[in-house]
Parts: sequence; C-alpha cells; structure tokens
Amino acid sequence: MDLSKLLFLLSDGGFHSGSELGLALGVSRTSIWKAVPGLQELNVPLEIVKGKGYRVNGGLDLLNKNKILSLLPVNISNLINIDLLLSHSSTNDYLSSFVIKDLGLNHYHICLAEMQTAGRGRRGKSWVSPFAKNISCSISFLLEGGVEALSGLSLVIGIAVAKTLEDLGVKDVCLKWPNDVYVGEKKIAGVLVELSGEATTSWKVVCGVGLNVHMRKSDGVSIDQLWCSLDDSLEVRRNVVVAKLIECLFTMLELFKVQGFESFMADWSRFDMLREKQIKVLPNGIEGVVVGVNLQGALIIQGDNGEHVINAGEVSVRKK
Ligand code: BTN
Repeated sequence: MDLSKLLFLLSDGGFHSGSELGLALGVSRTSIWKAVPGLQELNVPLEIVKGKGYRVNGGLDLLNKNKILSLLPVNISNLINIDLLLSHSSTNDYLSSFVIKDLGLNHYHICLAEMQTAGRGRRGKSWVSPFAKNISCSISFLLEGGVEALSGLSLVIGIAVAKTLEDLGVKDVCLKWPNDVYVGEKKIAGVLVELSGEATTSWKVVCGVGLNVHMRKSDGVSIDQLWCSLDDSLEVRRNVVVAKLIECLFTMLELFKVQGFESFMADWSRFDMLREKQIKVLPNGIEGVVVGVNLQGALIIQGDNGEHVINAGEVSVRKK
C-alpha cells in the first residue's frame, strides 16, 4: 500500500471510513487497517473511532512534488531533481549516498523528507524533524575548484534561507555566524554543509537546511535554546515555503559558483545579528567585538589584544 496516497486522503483532517479509503485506493478495508502501524511509525496522530473511521485530527500540511515544481520557474525546475521521501535518517545522508559522477555540473539533486529519524545538526547535535512539521531539505551539486572555491559557501546557504523568509514576509530575520537563521532572538532554521567524494577537480557538496514551520511546543521539548516556527508569524503552506527556498538556493548558488562570496558581503552585513556585539567563542574562549566577516566567510573579532579571525568549524558563538 502506498502510504503517501493514504496520507493524502487523510490530510484534510476529516473522518474517512475504511471502506471509503479502500475504494479510493483500490484496496480492501483490511489493507487500510493493516497500514495503520506504518502511519504510527511515522508518528502521525491518527485517531480511529468506531462507526466514524480514521482521522488525523488537525489535518496534515503534506509536501507534494508536482505542486513544488509548478511553483518554480522553468529554468530552475529543468535543472533539478527532487526526491521526496516520507521518512529517512537524514536528507544529507540520502544525498551523500549517490556517487559523484551521477551529478551533472549544472545540475542540483534535492532531497525532501517529511520526517528524519536521525536528523543531524552542527557540532554533533541532533535536529528535531517530526512528521510534516518542518522542512528538511538537502541539495547537492558539484563545485569546481580547490578548497578556496568553498569559502563562504555555508554563509551563502544561510543567506538564501534568510532571503526565503524575508520574501515570504517574515520580519526581523537575521543570521548568527556562521549560518544559524533567527527571527528576533529565536532560532528558526539551521544549515549543515558537508563534503563528500574527493576534491580532485571538483567537490561534491551536500547542503542541508532544517526550517521549523508548524512545530508545536511539545515537538521541541528537547531543543536546548530559544526557537520559533514560521507559523508563529505567518500562515503558510510548506509547499510554498519549499518552492521559495529552492528558488533562493538555486539563484544564490549559481551566483556563488561564478562570483564567490564577495558578492554576498552586503547581504551578510544586512542580516548579521552579531555585528558590533561583544561575543565569546567556544570552546577556545576568545572574546571581543564582532567587526564582520572576511572574504573567506571567517568571523573577524576585535579583542583587547588585537584582531582574531575565527574560521567556521566546530565552534559556537555566544553573545555576552
Ligand atoms: C544546525 O543548526 O545545527 C544545523 C541543522 C541542519 C538540519 C538539516 S535538516 C536537513 C539536513 N539533514 C540533516 O540531517 N541535517 C540537515
């Protein structure tokens, strides 16, 4: 049984009898019943009420590949492949498993998952990805050149997410170096850039974006920092958000491939939430006032004993 089709029928939030669902999907009532554990494994809040049938109370805002493609300009939809999964350990892992030669130089492979069972954040943290609540999106592509071709890339992905939110009408969007996306003081999205394959003449890059859309308080009890969701400030459908995100990622990556980070410096300054703030870098304990970023996307801090250049890596930055 195709769970996606069953989920689609249940996504309206109404009651549906087993026979009605069976009829619509060309299967028996028993097959519908047998699909229940599969839905429970995805943590779909399914109710079964005698005499009424099945319902997902509150409905589901499901992703739909054709809808997403229809919202994209043709020059973009022609150059991307989208794999939409119900559940996967991590969309970054999914794309990393493809071999480098399968990617054309101008092509982007995108993976979206309704749920990640082992979503990963930066610095070994996990990323909460409940079913149909967030956007878990990874994009992979080839980047020509040596190690310098990667300079600033992870900041550019953050800028693309920030622009996505701004284009959707969110106010007070900002970025915390290197690529955490905030609305005011609360984190709404994160970026995880990973490289796979060998850097011979080109890198295979996998960039993952996690964006909270319909997260309820109860979904985020394990999150150890202030966070928010897109629908705190905006009524949105996830397909619209994904299409805008893909459009921004595509446009900025195409520019980045040709011009590098330099052409994004002004955007970075506009979104930079740390500029002129006193900060402390962990774990090395460096303190100072943030001046900005350099052409490599490294953070420049003015400390008491001179300037420090902090390269993105396994560090975190705290406002003081
Ligand atoms: C962070 O802020 O720590 C980075 C979070 C990155 C989460 C995204 S969700 C899609 C992709 N798949 C993962 O496992 N992680 C990234």
